[in-house]
Amino acid sequence: MKLKLLSKDSGDFLILASSSEDVHIGDYLLVSEKERAALLQVYDERYLDLEGIEEELLREELVQEEINGSSYGSASLRSVITRIHDMRVLVCKPRSFFSSGERGVFSYWLPSRSSSRITKVDFETISQNIKSGTRKIYIGKVAGKDFSIFAESLDGKITLITGKKESGKSHLAKILLKGLTLHGAYSFVFDLNEEYSFFCSDPEVSHKTLKLLPGRNLRFSLSSAGLRAVSSILAHSLEMPGTSLREFTKIWDYLERSGRLTLSNFLETVERWRCNEFVRDALFSRINTLMSTGLFTDIEKESYDLNEPFKRAGGCTAILSLTQTSPLTRKVIVELILSKLTEMLEKKEIPPVFLFAEEAHLYLRETYWEDLITRMRHFGVFTIFITNQPDSIDKKIYRQIDNIFVYHLSNDSDINLISQSSAVDFESLTSIIKALQPRTCLVLGSVVSNLPVVVEVGELVAKETGITRLFFRQIDSLKT
Ligand SMILES: Nc1ncnc2c1ncn2[C@@H]1O[C@H](COP(=O)(O)OP(=O)(O)OP(=O)(O)O)[C@@H](O)[C@H]1O
Ligand SMILES: [Mg+2]
Repeated sequence: MKLKLLSKDSGDFLILASSSEDVHIGDYLLVSEKERAALLQVYDERYLDLEGIEEELLREELVQEEINGSSYGSASLRSVITRIHDMRVLVCKPRSFFSSGERGVFSYWLPSRSSSRITKVDFETISQNIKSGTRKIYIGKVAGKDFSIFAESLDGKITLITGKKESGKSHLAKILLKGLTLHGAYSFVFDLNEEYSFFCSDPEVSHKTLKLLPGRNLRFSLSSAGLRAVSSILAHSLEMPGTSLREFTKIWDYLERSGRLTLSNFLETVERWRCNEFVRDALFSRINTLMSTGLFTDIEKESYDLNEPFKRAGGCTAILSLTQTSPLTRKVIVELILSKLTEMLEKKEIPPVFLFAEEAHLYLRETYWEDLITRMRHFGVFTIFITNQPDSIDKKIYRQIDNIFVYHLSNDSDINLISQSSAVDFESLTSIIKALQPRTCLVLGSVVSNLPVVVEVGELVAKETGITRLFFRQIDSLKT
């Protein structure tokens, strides 16, 4: 039996399908009539409850088939009844409208029940309507066909990967990270669980990977960290009051002018500096805390040059290992790295970077959330947030998120957050997300040109077919 338009119920199109029809939640259907068409996404399936006209429509359809098939006895009547019992109603939302083949904005349209045609849309048709680029990143399968996104669609964007625990979020993040690295991008990863280290031994990307261990190969001298980053740490991570911060700046200037800018000289100078005793105590305690993090060194040649990853031609991934660091040290190092990166980007010393932030609420101070999506994004920090708690991400971020990869979630309030930032209605989103199978995610946003796609995420292997080894436009323009 053909797919048949049954009715339209507010924003939903209800389509009649036989039990054998290979159409499932997340799939697309095209309803077309003359030059108009609409792309519908199936978001729910129900049994058919027959009433009046619907029953009439169905009887007409099935009886016609039986007549065409020539046999019309009691056995075939029984088969008609069985088939009616097994009928499904596919509940669909329109995702896109077309007029004379051109994708257009939504317009009200009630297709004819008798003359509109409904067909299952193959994946190629969906792909054709997704903005393309030249730098493919293979993600997995959609309806059994290979599915790739384009690295360009992560460029300049804020991306969220979410879903319940163990659903495959980090796995997908690694796929994106590897793809970006192979395409010559520069990325920083805040690695909380020592999950990304295998990049160091992956033959395809090991030469483009740096593992940074805070306090070991990642330490900074005061001069290389710079006053801006250090004051930022003191003010935000160590909550140093304004008056003490002003004295700190004066001492910094004094030591810098005399070429003696080290933490030990700082301690010595504070001791004899003319200031209020409370201020002196505040300075002592903060400097001692900075020293205890092990992130600072007084020996210039031990200091890490944050330009190092960017000296690698053809892209680099810097994995910042946060596993064995205390929560305070974690906050200090993240503050330092973000502050330095922004400074270097402002001065156009480095190309834009992708930032992979796992469970960012554990180390990102409140005021950074907004900064990341406004000022830092403007200068070229493009964040990929990865979390199993969608509500741990600041609400302000949601309005700015461009791409979402969501695995199974069961909590309605989490799905509501996703719905608010994805322009996809809560009802269909809830139904699709709750029906997601393991290792399968729903992709939303500009990465799929706002055509939500259910993807069966693949293994972490490099698929380099179709890769054009070019630098991103931003990187190119910085070099010229
Ligand atoms: N598409 C996939 N193909 C093969 N293995 C996968 C896939 N997705 C996830 N896995 C494996 O499943 C396990 C859990 O995945 P992963 O660590 O990415 O989940 P997670 O959502 O990040 O979990 P957590 O919430 O604990 O951070 C890992 O061993 C990972 O390698
Ligand atoms: Mg994870």
